Amino acid sequence: MIAEVDKDTCIGCGACPEFCPEVFKMEDDGLAVAYTNPVPSDVESSAKDAADGCPVDAIHVE
Ligand code: F3S
Repeated sequence: MIAEVDKDTCIGCGACPEFCPEVFKMEDDGLAVAYTNPVPSDVESSAKDAADGCPVDAIHVE
């Protein structure tokens, strides 16, 4: 599974690293990045939770 953050859409709410710190982190620009790809199978569920939990739907997983 691949995770991507659309930086044009992310508002920097900071939720995704709370759901899945193994895949998402905040960068110096205040926006999130998916820094672990492909997503390890044992955290796919939490990565999906992060995508579902993003208030602006900036995270795409497939
Ligand atoms: Fe940004 Fe959504 Fe994460 S707004 S910080 S991608 S939860």
